[in-house]
Amino acid sequence: MITITRENNMELMARYPDNYFDLAIVDPPYGILNKTKRGGDYKFNMDEYSQWDVKPNDDYFNELLRVSKNQIIWGGNYFGQLWLKSEYNKGFIIWDKNQPETLNNFSMAEMAWSSLDKPSKIFRFSVRKNRNKIHPTQKPVELYEWLLKMYANQGDKILDTHLGSGTIAIACYNAGLSLTACEISETYYLKALDKIKEVIPESAIHTNDLDAFSLTFPEQTKSKNGLYKQYQEQVEQLRLFKEERAKYYAGVR
Ligand SMILES: C[S@@+](CC[C@H](N)C(=O)[O-])C[C@H]1O[C@@H](n2cnc3c(N)ncnc32)[C@H](O)[C@@H]1O
Repeated sequence: MITITRENNMELMARYPDNYFDLAIVDPPYGILNKTKRGGDYKFNMDEYSQWDVKPNDDYFNELLRVSKNQIIWGGNYFGQLWLKSEYNKGFIIWDKNQPETLNNFSMAEMAWSSLDKPSKIFRFSVRKNRNKIHPTQKPVELYEWLLKMYANQGDKILDTHLGSGTIAIACYNAGLSLTACEISETYYLKALDKIKEVIPESAIHTNDLDAFSLTFPEQTKSKNGLYKQYQEQVEQLRLFKEERAKYYAGVR
């Protein structure tokens, strides 16, 4: 099951016990859009993005490491505290964007810090021809598919605390891997759902509302399926989320 909620990731993580997720693949804001000359892609409304382009603090990273057994964290080069978490940092990951070196405003690569005791790896993939971006820092489905192939096992529970465009959800669905993800911005949350719905069959949609969206894999809801336990756990989590939301709305409206 893929479960996406519109909420602050600290609220999401607070609902889960230690080490619940097998692998967190996250892409927090690097906190640089207001500091770079160009400030990102002109196509996007930077006022919207700059509201959330705030680097997460230590509380976020501590909570992330509490709820997940392993982590892949994009923008690792911006988060100095991660490199002190281990005596050595072996398994970092590079996404080589195949950019011409003459384009001074765009970085040619992105780096992810990882907790994995694996050789470092490079994924080469260009997104220069992608004219359908819906998010200023959108990562391609192909990158997430490669990460899942390299670092996830069948039956793993994946966490993404910063959904953005939703490309990771498409990759998880294609790989049959359970994903729990959230996005704080209503605009990006709704855009991500539209993107996901373009490529996922409508019959897979389990819940579709303003604050929560979920998809099931074929046959997952049948108890003889290996993914049934994860389905039950995620349905229970959605119930808890909706209960909290109802209380919140009752209090403020
Ligand atoms: C760098 S982008 C993620 C891009 C994503 N990996 C993609 O491929 O589209 C970070 C996203 O995290 C969201 N965000 C920022 N702070 C958040 C928080 N505390 N809780 C949940 N989402 C947050 C932002 O709105 C933004 O969409």
